[in-house]
Amino acid sequence: MEHKTTLGKSNLRVPRMGVGAMVWGDPKGLARLHPAKTAYGGAHGIEEERRAVEVSIEAGVNLFDTAAMYSMGAAERRLGELTRGKDVIIATKYPSGFSFRVENFPKELEMTLARLGRDSIDLYQHHYPNARILIPELMDRVADAVEAGKVKAVGVSNYSAEQMREAYEALAKRGIPLASNQVEYSLLHRKPEVDGTLDACRELGITLIAYSPLAGGMLTGKYSPQNRPGGFFRRILPQYNRKALEAIQPVIKLLREIGDKYSKTPGQVAIRWLIENPIVLPIPGAKNGKQAADNAEALKFSLTAEEVEMLSHSTMAWRK
Ligand SMILES: NC(=O)c1ccc[n+]([C@@H]2O[C@H](COP(=O)([O-])OP(=O)(O)OC[C@H]3O[C@@H](n4cnc5c(N)ncnc54)[C@H](OP(=O)(O)O)[C@@H]3O)[C@@H](O)[C@H]2O)c1
Repeated sequence: MEHKTTLGKSNLRVPRMGVGAMVWGDPKGLARLHPAKTAYGGAHGIEEERRAVEVSIEAGVNLFDTAAMYSMGAAERRLGELTRGKDVIIATKYPSGFSFRVENFPKELEMTLARLGRDSIDLYQHHYPNARILIPELMDRVADAVEAGKVKAVGVSNYSAEQMREAYEALAKRGIPLASNQVEYSLLHRKPEVDGTLDACRELGITLIAYSPLAGGMLTGKYSPQNRPGGFFRRILPQYNRKALEAIQPVIKLLREIGDKYSKTPGQVAIRWLIENPIVLPIPGAKNGKQAADNAEALKFSLTAEEVEMLSHSTMAWRK
């Protein structure tokens, strides 16, 4: 089984999955209220984050995803601290705030490099599109950073198929591939299959990085209508309420049945369902070493085409 792949048409060799480090770090002051911390509740402290880095690298999962915005820089700082001197691939995102303008791009880049303590960023992603930002103009700035050796591969996030094409074409004029588009994708969020994103990725040779691949923990099977997840977002958003938890129980049952054949958990099967598509790269979030080690097990088995199809069929209601 090939555990490494190339990120889109870039030169970056990456594992078939990464680790989401959104909830890591020790923010101070107002940053403690940032959604990266409050949505699901933060990670379990620096020693568990260190352990998550170590076990992931040991398992061959050396790609870590963060963003300048997460906890107002605290997540990037922590990832930089924990990975210093290690053979890792760092994917991060800009901007750090909502008032971003294209001309601030070089400053954003320098601030991120300083927080990570690195000379270059492996994958630098525009976090979300914004009507005030002209994509070709932005991509021109990013291309300058690639030429200066400060960015190795270029990505976007939360871009539609049309926006991706715009970025792809602008970068192509400078001879640089658009390597990835990071969007929400899981068995419980199959929108990329119907909104053209997955098709455009396939056509243009772009990797789809799947965020929230465990649907914020729902696909691990540990939550039920009687045992609801904690964290501000998971208490208020409808996709985590009792009704939603009831609706997913048949999916969890199927994940469990398939997983039992391979001695794998529902979460591992849910991550594997994404990995079975060669252009998809999931980045499950881990709060501690055990979760990171569990998730990396998704690299150690395969699903049959029939099992992939059964899971796709059982989640048709989430394909919208
Ligand atoms: N580009 C974007 O706009 C964007 C948006 C969101 C996320 N992301 C990225 O995607 C990454 C992952 O997404 P996500 O954190 O939203 O959702 P996720 O990966 O679907 O779920 C992560 C949560 O599931 C639980 N979990 C993970 N592994 C587990 C295991 N083995 N056993 C039991 N529980 C486990 C943990 O929470 P509990 O233990 O509390 O249940 C963890 O915080 C983020 O870290 C971030 O890098 C990007």
